[in-house]
This record gives sequence, C-alpha cells and structure tokens, in this order.
Amino acid sequence: MQPGPRVVLGVTGGIAAYKAIEVCRRLVDAGAHVQPVLTQGALRFVGETTFSALASEPVKTSLWSESDPIPHTRLGQGADVIVVAPATARLLADYATGRSNDLLTATLLATRAPVVVCPAMHTEMWEHPAVQENLATLRRRGVVVVDPESGRLAGGDIGHGRLADPTRIVNAVFAALGPPDLDGVNMVVTAGGTREAIDPVRFIGNRSSGKQGHALAVAAARRGARVTLITTASLPAPGVSDVVAVVSAAEMHDAVMARAASADVVVMAAAVADFRPVTVADHKIKKAGGPPEIRLEPTVDILAALGRHKRAGQILVGFAAETTDVATHARSKLEAKGADLLVANDVSAPATGFEHDTNEVIIYGADGTATPVPMTTKEGVAERILDAVAGLRLHSPPPRIDNPDQQAQTTPPKEQQ
Ligand code: CTP
Repeated sequence: MQPGPRVVLGVTGGIAAYKAIEVCRRLVDAGAHVQPVLTQGALRFVGETTFSALASEPVKTSLWSESDPIPHTRLGQGADVIVVAPATARLLADYATGRSNDLLTATLLATRAPVVVCPAMHTEMWEHPAVQENLATLRRRGVVVVDPESGRLAGGDIGHGRLADPTRIVNAVFAALGPPDLDGVNMVVTAGGTREAIDPVRFIGNRSSGKQGHALAVAAARRGARVTLITTASLPAPGVSDVVAVVSAAEMHDAVMARAASADVVVMAAAVADFRPVTVADHKIKKAGGPPEIRLEPTVDILAALGRHKRAGQILVGFAAETTDVATHARSKLEAKGADLLVANDVSAPATGFEHDTNEVIIYGADGTATPVPMTTKEGVAERILDAVAGLRLHSPPPRIDNPDQQAQTTPPKEQQ
C-alpha cells in the first residue's frame, strides 16, 4: 500500500459525480491512497470501472455484498480523511441526522477521521433552509464544507451550486489532514537540463525535460515547504513561490549557491552538464570553415560542492540517470557527493526517465537503505522522494539553535553563501 494519507472518497448521486473522477486522479497523483465508495445514486451517473482503474483500491458500493462483514468500520477506522464529492442534499441530511442507510453514510458515522463534504446541487436546493441548517450542523461538528461555486448547472441554467473546482477539493483534503509534514521547510529544487553555448545559435544539451523536478517542487510546496525552483524548463509550477529561470550549468551553480546557506533541503533533480565549451564563438560558426573542434572544460559539480559544505541537519538529494549498473553507480555517487539520498533510475528502461510522464526509481539512503518505487507517475515518484526527506527530518531533525556558539557552528562557509 502507498505510504501517503488514506483517503476514503465518497461519491453520491449527482451530475457532478463525473468530476469526482478528476478529484480521485489528483488525490492519487498527490500521493494519497484512495478508496472510492460510491452510492447507488452515484452508480447511475458514473461507472465503477473508471474509479477502480484510477484509485488505489477497487470501488466499494455496498454494506452487504462485500466479503468483509464490517466494511464500514474498517473503512471508517482506517481512513486518515474522508471526502464526499459531490455531496447531495440527501447525503448532507443523512449525515447531519446520523442516518446510516448505506456504506458511505455508515462509514461517515464509523470514523474519527476529519471529514470534508463538497456539496453540489441546484441553486434552489442549495439555498433551502433545510440544506443550510444541515450544513450548519455539520460545520458545528467540525466537518469541513467546501462551498460550491457559481456557474453553469445541469440543465444549462446559471447559478450557485456547482461542485467546487477539483484543486480546491484536493487542497481542502490535505488541509484537513493537519499541518503538512514539510511545513516551513526551506527547500531548493533544481530541474531540467542545462545548455552550454557553443555559439549564439548552438548548444550542448541533454534530454532532461524538467518534469520530475517540477513535480517535486509542486508536491513539496503542497506539503508546506517554501520552495525555490531553479529550472531550465518552462513548465508550470503551481504553488511554488520562487521560480528562478537559468540556462547553463554556471547559472544554475550561482543560483543554487546563493540560496544553499538558508536551505534545509536541496534537491538536485536537474541534469547538469559535466562539460562546457572552453570558448563560446561570438558569431555563428559557419559550415564553410569545416567541422569545428570544440574543446571542453569541466563545470563545477554543484551537488558535490554542496556536499563538501553541508551544514548540520541539511539534507541533500541527488539524482542519477544511468543506463548500466544502476545500483553500483548510485551508491558511489551518493558517497562521493556527500548526499543523504540518491534517486536512481535506469533511463534505458521503457517509459522511465527523460521526457516520459512516468518513472520508476530506487531511492538510496546514506544509511544503506534502498527503497524501490515501482512504475508510477512523476508526481507519485515526487511524493515518495518527499516521504523519504520527511522521514530523514523526523529521525534526525535539524539542531536547535539555543546559543550563539552553536549558531556559529551551523553557519556555512563563506563561499557557500
Ligand atoms: N550534478 C551537479 N553538478 C554537475 C553534474 C551533476 O550537481 N556538474 C548532480 C546532478 O544534479 C545529480 C547528480 O549530480 O543530482 C548526479 O548527476 P549525474 O550526471 O548522474 O552524475 P555525474 O557526477 O555527472 O556522473 P556521470 O556523468 O559519470 O554519470
């Protein structure tokens, strides 16, 4: 089972049930272990198969037809959070009055986990005092209500009552779980492949797309970290407050070093060039001159430099894209560069690494651990890497600075600032 939060996703019978499919997918992408529970009404709008294919567990629909004689207590007790999207007026009434008609309402009564309800209905129903009183009762009991939005409703009329946007729902689910595990952590993430100029139009580059690094930055921000993303890629990075665009290894080096001193965690997901042309031609190199000889010089190994000046409690995460002997190369890079974690993948395997949306990695720890992450989305891999980071912080939290002497010890050397 995935290590992320265990989410029961209740779906009731409204036209917005189709949007719950997107909520399900996003929860899984965000690292949650999702168990869908569909009411009979929901099954009139959406199929079980869709949810079962996207979720972490097959759909449950009945109190009685399961092999488990007490599915509601198992679901209720096992959940870290329950979200009902969409929640019909009937579900709200049943929940507010403690009626347990079916698996979903029974599960809602058999839990101590936080509950998020996302009502969706026609404006007249939403505004009805009975619905509003039921919502007030639920709110008073600590249930989180994600209010509906205005817009086009089933039937084509415009009004209030449309299910909240999936992003708001997913955010509310994670907020209900309590303070995120990377709350307040200062994190620098690099992403993409650097480009080393040969002349004004040509460069030496690599095939890194930046997708994994961006997924890491976005997931870390959602888990409460203050993220600076230093990237060569122009991909979106929702939630990341500070995005620094760079092109070359030297620019990436300077951007990382300027921020490393105050970073609790640095994740070097970027594919940084190891060599760059010694000189960059001022003008385009013309073909007529014959094949040019391009002399290369090494770039600075950013991760190794960080490793040499690592301050107490700082966590360094490296990556290794390999085509042979993954474990051997990964272990030696981990040690040589002074990283705490090294994420290794075999980029020659199908559907992993560069340009793909999926990845399959092994996370090596300086403590000798090796955690395989089977093929999943890059968002899923990001969550697993952040689980490992959060685990390290839990087991060796950064030192408390109680007196100026200790402060002096944790101040990084000058060249790193
Ligand atoms: N790295 C870095 N600076 C460089 C080169 C690499 O910080 N100039 C980082 C990468 O971001 C990655 C890790 O080092 O986190 C490993 O990169 P990789 O290219 O796999 O390793 P190299 O040391 O370049 O070794 P090799 O090319 O021989 O595999």
